Amino acid sequence: MSSTKKYMNIISIILRSLCYLIIVLVVIVSSYIILNSGIYHTPTTFLMSSNYVSPSNKILIVGGTRGVGLEIIKKLLDRGEDVTAMVRSTSNVEKLTQLGVKQVVADALIKEQVQAIFSQNNFDTVISTLGTSAKDLPERQNFIQARIKGEVKMDPNKRPDFIGNRNIIDSAKTTGANRFIFITVIGTGQSHDALPPLSRRGHKDVISLKEKAENHLRASGLSYTIIRPGGFSNGQSSGKAKLTEDHLAFSYIARIDVANLAIEALGNDESIDKTFNAYDKDMLYLHRMFMD
Ligand SMILES: NC(=O)c1ccc[n+]([C@@H]2O[C@H](COP(=O)([O-])OP(=O)(O)OC[C@H]3O[C@@H](n4cnc5c(N)ncnc54)[C@H](OP(=O)(O)O)[C@@H]3O)[C@@H](O)[C@H]2O)c1
Repeated sequence: MSSTKKYMNIISIILRSLCYLIIVLVVIVSSYIILNSGIYHTPTTFLMSSNYVSPSNKILIVGGTRGVGLEIIKKLLDRGEDVTAMVRSTSNVEKLTQLGVKQVVADALIKEQVQAIFSQNNFDTVISTLGTSAKDLPERQNFIQARIKGEVKMDPNKRPDFIGNRNIIDSAKTTGANRFIFITVIGTGQSHDALPPLSRRGHKDVISLKEKAENHLRASGLSYTIIRPGGFSNGQSSGKAKLTEDHLAFSYIARIDVANLAIEALGNDESIDKTFNAYDKDMLYLHRMFMD
């Protein structure tokens, strides 16, 4: 065999191997996206949209320094509602201050601070998007570090997902609030099977805390609406997000649309004492979380 032919043979083997490698990678990535998608169940019943009826009372937003809570504040201010944001002394309140929204200071984990802000203000409506802030989580470990050192877990008593929300719910109840909108997560209670299996393990700690908080709210006697979203994107509204009592529904969703759904629930008495999954048929696949 001439040396040119040998050379061509080697190149052809390399190219073929590269092709196989690319095919294997495409199959792995596509399977991952599909297994984490919401395509396996399509809900058919949704909360009927209605004209927004203003609660015309004092609304407290807990968790409004960013994300869904901040979007809810912007939308309520646009509607002319009487809104107050609960912040921590350590919170970055720059965006809230720019909006000119009223602020009260309390750490949700400190019962006395929460009781104080409720007894000093007559809040009738509470919307909680309270969750563990990324800055409060232990440093992220990669797979190998977690195997060698063992997983570093955060003390559940230092997470606001249950204890913080419980303090808010209890204070709301004792000071006579009547309405509570609560943003949790798909995976709690009857929605356990809606969460793609690959996501369940990583989120099991936070899901169990949020589930306890949901149960505490249901038992409180407050008029509640629980909204369980799947993974968030920071993208624009698709205009397709809806609330469904079909607990097997799963999709990703833009934060701004979760805010829209929370306001829709607030202005619609049909949502009282109900638990919904947030569902967006345009956001079924994992990669939609990273698109604007
Ligand atoms: N990320 C997702 O894909 C996803 C999916 C489904 C559901 N959820 C849930 O949806 C909710 C909103 O999520 P998000 O990503 O928009 O916002 P986020 O980043 O989770 O915001 C958490 C909020 O809670 C506040 N907070 C934390 N600890 C507090 C404490 N001890 N006292 C008072 N406030 C405290 C934070 O204030 P500071 O500024 O002071 O930290 C912040 O305003 C969360 O409950 C989250 O678990 C998230």
